[in-house]
Amino acid sequence: MSEITVLPVPVFSTLCNAAFALRREVFVWEQKVPEEEEHDSYDMTATHYVAVADGEVVGTLRVIALEEHIKIGRVAVRQAFRGRGVARRLMDQAMADARAKGEDRFFLTAQSDKLGLYEKLGFVAFGPEFTDGGMPHRAMRTYDKDSATLQD
Ligand SMILES: CC(C)(COP(=O)(O)OP(=O)(O)OC[C@H]1O[C@@H](n2cnc3c(N)ncnc32)[C@H](O)[C@@H]1OP(=O)(O)O)[C@@H](O)C(=O)NCCC(=O)NCCS
Repeated sequence: MSEITVLPVPVFSTLCNAAFALRREVFVWEQKVPEEEEHDSYDMTATHYVAVADGEVVGTLRVIALEEHIKIGRVAVRQAFRGRGVARRLMDQAMADARAKGEDRFFLTAQSDKLGLYEKLGFVAFGPEFTDGGMPHRAMRTYDKDSATLQD
C-alpha cells in the first residue's frame, strides 16, 4: 500500500482545497447531501487535516474547538482508499494533537451505520437518532461515557 502522510493544513491552501473537493465528491455526489449543507461557517475556523498518498489527498476531516469539547467532523476517504486505515490515521492524529494541547473531550455526530468505526476509537453513542443531510445520525463522545450509555 502507498505510504500515507497525515497533516493539518491551512484553510484554502492547495491541500485544503483538494480536501474540500474530496468532501464534495464523497458527501454531495456519493451520499447526496444537499450541496448547500456541505460547507458551513465552521470551515473558516476549523483545523483541517488531510491524508496524502502518492501526492493526492485521499482523506480528510476537520476539528472544531468548542467551549465544551472538540468536535470532529466531515470525515471522508476516497472510495479507492477505504478499508486501509486512512480514517483511523486521521482520527488518531487529530486527537493526539488536541490531547497535546490539553484537550481530552471529543464529540462527533456519526452516520448511524458508521458507529463501529468511532467506537473503535473510544467514542460512545448517546441520545436519540436524528436526521442530518438526509441520513440517520447519532451523537457520540469520548467523555462521561457512563451517562452517555444511560441516555440510550
Ligand atoms: C467511513 C469512512 C470515513 C471510513 O474510512 P476508512 O479509511 O475506510 O476507515 P478505516 O479503514 O480507517 O477503518 C478503521 C476501523 O473502523 C472500521 N470501520 C470502517 N468503516 C466502518 C463502518 N462503516 N462500520 C463499522 N466499522 C467500520 C474498520 O473495519 C477499521 O477497523 P479495524 O481497525 O479494526 O480494522 C469511509 O468509508 C468514507 O469516507 N465513507 C463515506 C463518508 C462517510 O460516511 N463519512 C463518515 C460520516 S460519519
